[in-house]
Amino acid sequence: QSVSNSMMWRAPCPLATPAGHSPRSHLLADALNNEAYRNATEATVFGPFFVDEAPQVEAGGDIAAGAPGEPAWVEGTVRDVDGNPLPGARIEVWEADEEGLYDVQHDDGRTYGRGRLVADDDGGYRFWGLFPTPYPIPDDGPVGDLLAATGRSPLRASHLHFMVSAPGCRTLVTHIFVRGDELLERDSVFGVKESLVHDWEHHSAGTPTPDGRDLDGRGWASTRFDVVLAPL
Ligand SMILES: [Fe+2]
Repeated sequence: QSVSNSMMWRAPCPLATPAGHSPRSHLLADALNNEAYRNATEATVFGPFFVDEAPQVEAGGDIAAGAPGEPAWVEGTVRDVDGNPLPGARIEVWEADEEGLYDVQHDDGRTYGRGRLVADDDGGYRFWGLFPTPYPIPDDGPVGDLLAATGRSPLRASHLHFMVSAPGCRTLVTHIFVRGDELLERDSVFGVKESLVHDWEHHSAGTPTPDGRDLDGRGWASTRFDVVLAPL
C-alpha cells in the first residue's frame, strides 16, 4: 500500500512449527506500529491485563473457565500475507468477565478468561470464550485527571484481546471489537480500528453449538476472526 512498504520486499513467513515461537521482545513496538503491512491484520493496544503463562487450551476448549458471561464461540485461521496457513501459530487470548473485570483484578489469585492455543495443520483455531462487555480503565491518579479534564468516560469499547505469533512473522497484538457497540466511537484509549470491528451472531437458547457442547439452555454468541501475520 504505502511507498515504504512496496519498496521493501520481504519473504513470507516460513511454515511454523509447534515448538517454535517468535521473539516477544518487541511487543510494545508491534502494538504501537499501527501501519499494517499489506493485508496483515491491524494491531492495537496491548493493555495491562496480559499474563505470560496463561492456561494451555485445546482446540475448541473453553478459555472462560467459569468466568461469568454469555458463552461465545470464536473461530478462524492464521495465515501469512500470501494466504499460506501457519500451522503451529501460537494464539493467546484474554478478556474481562461480564462484570468488566479481568481475573487479575480479583485478589484471590483466580485464573479465568484467558488461554493459549495452537493453530492446527490448516492454520485453524477455535475456542469458547465470552461475548465481550465494556469495562472502565482504572481512573484514579493522572489517568483519571486526564479523563476528567477532557470530559471522557473511562469505559473501553467491548473487546477480546489476541496476541498471535509464528516463527518468521511479526507478533500481532490486537483486539476484536463488537459491531453495534455504542462505545466504539468513544473508546477511552482510542484503540478501535474499523478493520477490527466484527459482526457477532447471537443464537437463542437451544440452538445447537458448533461442537455439540451442551450449554444448559443458555444462548450463545459467535464470531470469526481470520488473522494475517506480516513477515518479520
Ligand atoms: Fe482489555
